[in-house]
Amino acid sequence: MELTAATGRNDVTENYVDGLSLEEKASLTSGSDFWHSQSVAGIESILLTDGPHGVRKQPEGGDALGLGHSIPATCFPPAVGLGSSWNLDLIRQVGEALGDEAKAEQVSVLLGPGINIKRSPLCGRNFEYVSEDPFLSGRVAAALITGIQSRGVGTSLKHFAANNQEHDRMRVSADVDERTLREIYLAGFEYAVKTAAPTTVMCSYNKINGVYSSQNHWLLTEVLREQWGFDGLVVSDWGAVNDRVAALAAGLDLEMPPTGTDTQIVDAVRGGDLDESVLTTAAERLSTLVKRTAAARTEGHTYDVERHHELARTAAAESAVLLANDGELLPLTPGGQTVAVIGEFACSPRYQGAGSSQVVPTKLDNALDAILDLEGADRVTFAPGFTFDGTPDDHMVTEAVDAARRADVAVLFLGLPSATESEGFDRTDIELPADQIALLEAVHGANPNTVVVLANGGVVSIEPWKDHAAAILEGWLLGQAGGSAIADLLFGITNPSGRLTETIPLRLQDNPSYLHFPGSQQHVRYGEGLYVGYRYYDSALREVAYPFGFGLSYTTFDITDTSVDAGKNSAEVTVTVRNSGDRSGSTVVQVYVHDASASIDRPAQELKGFAKVHLDPDESATVTITLDTRAFAYWSVAAQDWAIEPGDYEIRVGFSSRDIATTDTITLAGNVGVGTLDAMSTIGEWLAHPVGSAVLGAAMAAAAGDGAQAVSPEMMALAGSMPLGKLATFGLGITEEQVAQLVAAAAQPGS
Ligand code: BGC
Repeated sequence: MELTAATGRNDVTENYVDGLSLEEKASLTSGSDFWHSQSVAGIESILLTDGPHGVRKQPEGGDALGLGHSIPATCFPPAVGLGSSWNLDLIRQVGEALGDEAKAEQVSVLLGPGINIKRSPLCGRNFEYVSEDPFLSGRVAAALITGIQSRGVGTSLKHFAANNQEHDRMRVSADVDERTLREIYLAGFEYAVKTAAPTTVMCSYNKINGVYSSQNHWLLTEVLREQWGFDGLVVSDWGAVNDRVAALAAGLDLEMPPTGTDTQIVDAVRGGDLDESVLTTAAERLSTLVKRTAAARTEGHTYDVERHHELARTAAAESAVLLANDGELLPLTPGGQTVAVIGEFACSPRYQGAGSSQVVPTKLDNALDAILDLEGADRVTFAPGFTFDGTPDDHMVTEAVDAARRADVAVLFLGLPSATESEGFDRTDIELPADQIALLEAVHGANPNTVVVLANGGVVSIEPWKDHAAAILEGWLLGQAGGSAIADLLFGITNPSGRLTETIPLRLQDNPSYLHFPGSQQHVRYGEGLYVGYRYYDSALREVAYPFGFGLSYTTFDITDTSVDAGKNSAEVTVTVRNSGDRSGSTVVQVYVHDASASIDRPAQELKGFAKVHLDPDESATVTITLDTRAFAYWSVAAQDWAIEPGDYEIRVGFSSRDIATTDTITLAGNVGVGTLDAMSTIGEWLAHPVGSAVLGAAMAAAAGDGAQAVSPEMMALAGSMPLGKLATFGLGITEEQVAQLVAAAAQPGS
């Protein structure tokens, strides 16, 4: 058997399924228990388990769900953190470590990554997802998949698709137009499938436009397999199958956990309701998955717990985003000041979200211990400040204020208590608990040198309290080494380099999905269409608290030169970036594309390339970012394909969607024809059409020559949106016969 480096796939040419009975084949399409596939006729049973940022394997004899009782494993930063690193190399390394840990536990498929788009900041599971942007989500997913699968362990790209809320997730229909689906909600999956070949894709619970994902032939077969070339296995989300036979027919291969309905499949085949070849194909895919993941089940694999903890620390440090740093209050100097550490999160860290992704960590760092180590015990005081149940406590506030008053700097650890966000339900607001904000105001009143460190899986509103913090470090959920990573960042041992993967709005109500979330009566209408996250804020020129892509550093960077080399429908962007400050650090060069001559509706700009660059002071680097044809394309529903309009495109290079350093304009040939004209084409369309404008222009000139009244610009503007044929209907100087002649003339090649 041969392993291919990129995907870890085994040679899968041998077919074990031929010759199996109907019953045996049906058995291969459901699990044997909550976490295992069935063993049939020599095809091994394999273990599939969560995922995504650590291995959650139930101990032998443990209960099925067993949240919080799994075998210890490294808890890497959940996607909300890891994605914010924008460091694909690091993410791949985390994937490799996850693969090693899965292998050590004989886990054949790790159930992740999850890349549903953060449509609303309220989605309770946003901590498990990467971004509001599909380009970034797809790249992060591909890096993780490549890393995990390099160890021979399979992955499950989830939740396919349009599972963008927890509310009613098992029934709700995400009602979304096709172009939006293709460009926003499917694009990340498409990239990851095409470039990293996950061994499995997990369908979502919800419906899409009225059809359960688990029974959605268009989604699971036409799009995923026929158009994207996916050749792996589709597994249900746990419990997502509602009709076994319909699911199989749609392209779902494995039902997890089993519902004991294999006989339904057999009966359907015998009764002529299901083609046996569909069942055979699904069984073959299971058999192929078993073979592809054979390396995951090699005995004696171990991993270095300490090394993985250090990797988790590095990843956490790259994931936190420095939002504010007035007067360069940060970094602190180790042993250089007195510090009041305030907030229960400093010693009881919130480092992962609740639900199926919850890992039992191998160890757990807390920030207080790490700060004590760096600062020295005699210079640090601690006050818990608040309780996680949100009950205001005057005594705790007084104690915290006293500590802050006596210290040079107050570092407040605030955030969302774990009860407020989880898989299974959505939030109803994005505010920090009121008692924490009151504490912050009191502490800041006593000591303006106040630093806020946040712990939250979903975005929290910062606007209401930002004037009470000199520095703000958004720590998201950073995994088991987040505590020490935070201390590293506060004291400048590591220079912050995380960047926002989602916009922080001024207020929840600004979010484009606000009026359409989470829907009602089992439907949620994606009324904002393409305008998700910064695609909306930047198109509507809405002020935001912190834009997509934003993040500060203890040093500064300049883009000193950009050149764009345009092809027919692609471009190569070469950017020189320089560290203009006095510390080593990393930045993220971001490339946004603006379609300057769009005739169709398009977001003002879209991320189409990025590169994370590490530079010493005064050092420069030149990075080349390739924009392939997809960087310029939109989904044409009419053509059922990706289309590029001819015309000008701006290539905007900068450090966030609102911090653009250089703009270059290129002209692309496009790949769409000019379209045909008919009687219902408007006069404006006739005049914009290279052939139609000549034909119509000649007809108008001839009419003017015959003494007809010349058409004024005002008249043209008024008539521009009127179909040409309607002029005849209204008797406005043209007959239906003449319209027909013009249509024929415009259609003639070479006319
Ligand atoms: C979650 C999946 C998870 C599965 C198994 C489901 O409820 O949505 O993400 O992989 O459970 O735990």
